[in-house]
Amino acid sequence: MNVAVATEPLLERHEELAQIESALADARTGRGRFVVVEGPAGIGKTALLAAARTAAAEGGMRVLRSRATEMETNFAFGVVRQLFERPLVEASELERADLLQGAAGVAAGLLGLPGAAPADAPPSSGVDPSFAILHGLYWLCANLAAVGPLCLVVDDAHWADAASLRYLAFLLTRLEELDAALVVATRPSEARTDAELLTAVMTDSSADAIRLAPLTRPAVAELLGAGLGRAPDPDVVDTCLRVTRGKPFLVREFATALSEGSIGSDVRSVGRSVRLRLLRLPEHAGRLARALAILEQSDLLQAARLAGLEELEAAEAADLLSTAGILEPGRPLTFVHPLVRDSIYSELSSAERAQGHRRAAQLLAEQPGAEARVAEHLLVSEPADDGWVVDRLVAAACEAGMQGAPESEAVFLRRALAEQAPAGNRAALLLDLGMAEASIGHADWQEHLQGAVDAAPDAAAAVYATMVLATGLSRAQRFGEAVEVLDRASLSLDSRHSELALLLEAAAIAPAMNDPATAPSVALRRETLRERVAGHPAPPELPLAVAAFTSILGNEPAEVGAELATRALLAGDSAPGGSRGRPWFSFATWFSLTTFSLLWAERYAQLRPLLDTSIAQARATGDSSRLAVGLATHGWLAFRCGDLGGAEGDARTALAAIKLPAPPMYRVMNGGLLVKALVERGELDAAEEALVPLDANAESGSVIAAEVRFARGRLRIAQGRFAEGLEDFRAVGTLLT
Ligand SMILES: Nc1ncnc2c1ncn2[C@@H]1O[C@H](COP(=O)(O)OP(=O)(O)OP(=O)(O)O)[C@@H](O)[C@H]1O
Ligand SMILES: [Mg+2]
Repeated sequence: MNVAVATEPLLERHEELAQIESALADARTGRGRFVVVEGPAGIGKTALLAAARTAAAEGGMRVLRSRATEMETNFAFGVVRQLFERPLVEASELERADLLQGAAGVAAGLLGLPGAAPADAPPSSGVDPSFAILHGLYWLCANLAAVGPLCLVVDDAHWADAASLRYLAFLLTRLEELDAALVVATRPSEARTDAELLTAVMTDSSADAIRLAPLTRPAVAELLGAGLGRAPDPDVVDTCLRVTRGKPFLVREFATALSEGSIGSDVRSVGRSVRLRLLRLPEHAGRLARALAILEQSDLLQAARLAGLEELEAAEAADLLSTAGILEPGRPLTFVHPLVRDSIYSELSSAERAQGHRRAAQLLAEQPGAEARVAEHLLVSEPADDGWVVDRLVAAACEAGMQGAPESEAVFLRRALAEQAPAGNRAALLLDLGMAEASIGHADWQEHLQGAVDAAPDAAAAVYATMVLATGLSRAQRFGEAVEVLDRASLSLDSRHSELALLLEAAAIAPAMNDPATAPSVALRRETLRERVAGHPAPPELPLAVAAFTSILGNEPAEVGAELATRALLAGDSAPGGSRGRPWFSFATWFSLTTFSLLWAERYAQLRPLLDTSIAQARATGDSSRLAVGLATHGWLAFRCGDLGGAEGDARTALAAIKLPAPPMYRVMNGGLLVKALVERGELDAAEEALVPLDANAESGSVIAAEVRFARGRLRIAQGRFAEGLEDFRAVGTLLT
């Protein structure tokens, strides 16, 4: 008997289904909706989703579905891939070209989705794969919804990978504009390291939440009756209600057990009846079931190999298991229900599990492109001193990093570090781990980056790790600490490493300007830097860019700054990319300093094409950081040239593009520009409104605050509030000098 027959009519779910149907109807008329179905294991979420899919299809919607699984919790974008793979496979070549235009194609390429031109690996420097993928996949979804109304169904979201959850959260911010419904089912709380992401999605303000209640007595009696083939005694119904607490899965189990005469009253552990059924089967069926519990799902051959069975023998075992209601019929091999897998898995000893997963990893590693799956098994194997394991985990981490899934990357790297890697390797692992953690705001990033500095095998590696650590600190607005870290590193270098010291000194200047305690040292720092740059035959781009920026701020003749900026551009062009597409760390302090310098030096003709190219690249790749900086500078340029409409447009576009958590700097640069443009156009009320989100940054004491106060001062003067305006301008003077 099959324990999970999803096609049977649902009891006591009329209201819930009506709620879903109303959401689907809205979605069909262009008002995207989000429905969350929540409830414990076995309560009937999957069954309700099946009904929702039928309703959507009958209403003329295209249904895309996906189901997260426990052994793919760290597979980057695993859930999202399932959603979008099929429509891409099914599309004609022409349709596919339409679906994959622009940003959608970039994302599909990075993820290796069907029909997409593969992305250059690693992504060119300055491309943020996280954002490029989120943005591109949004467009893929929008393009699909433009063809006809969509219903996206995601089951078992409690096991979804973090990157997919981030995508769903991103999609939610714009779902309303699409002809699409998103229906997600999840268990309420499942232990996971990134629980906030799941919670954020599930408690989104747009969510229409359905909490599934247990079945009542009449429904339990009906379900029991259907299972037994006769009306049950009232006593039996009472017992059933008590031990199953109205969970339909358990009610069915109870009915199965009763009709097999195998138990009286204890089915609270699903395991018992499943185990009894297994015991009645021949030994090789049990072996296959246990191997499959390790794999979770698998093709026949892999499961047979893990179970140590011949293929034919395994095929026969699979048939027996499906007749016994343990496996779904057909391939790939899957359990009828996650709870059935649980019951078999929980019977394995921890040694059996660890060995089973280790062996599964080895088998899967023979297949190409299974890095994440291999690593997932290694996560639950016992750490040992094993180079092969480290290599596999690092490969999976690398892949996750390049696909914009830093959460998964961090999980794999943490496990790799537990494997007692050799020291040189350790520093590299710590560096990657710290960067991944910093980009998701994981608390351990600083400790791990400091570890990378301490464990660095040579001076160059230590300097690189230090620069990364300092970038992280600056991004967290901890400018004083950034300066401290850089200064300490440069003091520890001996005279053979003057080249490296130059980089550290240059990197310290921008954060030093932002901290009141270090600001007084900036004058000396910039003089020293200028001397070093002057005495250097071919200085790298960062020292040149910083020298240009400080020259302009120091009111030197414009040609001096412009010349340094131009040299920075030449040096930067030939610099290698590095840092695996993490713009967070690689892009381009030097580039923005250079473009600001050219702007203030009034080298407009030189600047314009640079910005146009940078903005075009940022748009093509969906790189929001770069877009924000590019548009801010472009808007400033327009402002300075008297094109107020252009300035306003750039600022508004940039602000709309910064949807993800972005450093406040980007908002402030563009917000400040918007206020100034509106003031110049005499739209004072609109300017006041644009100022509101910036006000909190006005008192921060950093260079960012200067921008806000300058914009606010102009507004106050235009409003006739002269004393306040004057105070703002004075503050700008203090902040910048
Ligand atoms: N309202 C219902 N009426 C009758 N049978 C139901 C009902 N809801 C669920 N079932 C049956 O109960 C079993 C378990 O339901 P389902 O698989 O949907 O649970 P679930 O909430 O998805 O569990 P999990 O969290 O483990 O995935 C299935 O066999 C399903 O057909
Ligand atoms: Mg389910």
